[in-house]
Amino acid sequence: MKFLFLPLSLILAVTASGKPLKITLPVETAVYKAGPGAELANAQCMTCHSADYAAMQPPKPRDFWKAEVEKMKGKYGAPYSTNDFDGLIGYFANNYGTDTNVVVMPTIAPAPVANGINAKELAIKSGCFNCHQISSKLIGPAYKDVAAKYRNKSDAMAKVAHQITHGGSGQWGPIPMPPFTQFSPAEVKALGEWILSLK
Ligand code: HEC
Ligand code: HEC
Repeated sequence: MKFLFLPLSLILAVTASGKPLKITLPVETAVYKAGPGAELANAQCMTCHSADYAAMQPPKPRDFWKAEVEKMKGKYGAPYSTNDFDGLIGYFANNYGTDTNVVVMPTIAPAPVANGINAKELAIKSGCFNCHQISSKLIGPAYKDVAAKYRNKSDAMAKVAHQITHGGSGQWGPIPMPPFTQFSPAEVKALGEWILSLK
């Protein structure tokens, strides 16, 4: 099984070299099963390790998931708030629980789909959530804060698209974001529009 302490190793890489960073991120394709609460799990439970850690557990009762969610925070310092406990425990008990994990959950994807691109899923698959969360700062700024910064600014899309494709630092702090050169212009636009639409 793969265990990656990605955010930490990235910080070390930055301070050790001091040069422009070239980071090749692992392409993280395994996300948590779709369903109510999956967004929370994808945002909160893939920052330190891959989804395999939970997905490969044999079906477990709710008490097990309650203990895991509490342990990740209490022992390992997971950054989610205690307000998220119920949502996370419910999600894992329903989707990876003793009785229900053979049930195939319907795909619920309320994220905006532009030109056939689901920007949020693309962000999850591309590893954006290793450094970003929707509502709170992680390594990079919260996406809601990015949206607020650019609200009503005409150059918003250009700036955000540039950051995604070229990376950069200095707008939110000294830690650089690596460039993502793999996206088509339509994908960059979809990611940018989704981030800028968050409230
Ligand atoms: C702050 C980092 C961090 C976050 C965030 C995090 N985990 Fe973990 N997780 C760990 C560490 C460290 C281990 C132990 C790894 C090892 O022993 O190799 C672990 C192990 C696990 C295991 C294996 C069983 C165990 O207890 O060792 C499961 C299941 C798991 N995590 C689920 C989750 C779930 C579900 C979430 C979101 C609610 C989550 N993790 C979020 C750090 C984290
Ligand atoms: C390795 C960590 C890391 C990853 C992975 C990452 N970012 Fe960032 N991101 C950052 C940091 C750090 C900043 C703040 C940079 C700065 O201060 O200028 C940032 C800033 C941003 C901004 C704000 C730009 C602005 O003009 O204010 C956007 C938008 C953004 N990231 C989108 C993304 C998207 C989309 C992905 C995935 C394709 C992604 N990021 C992946 C670390 C990361």
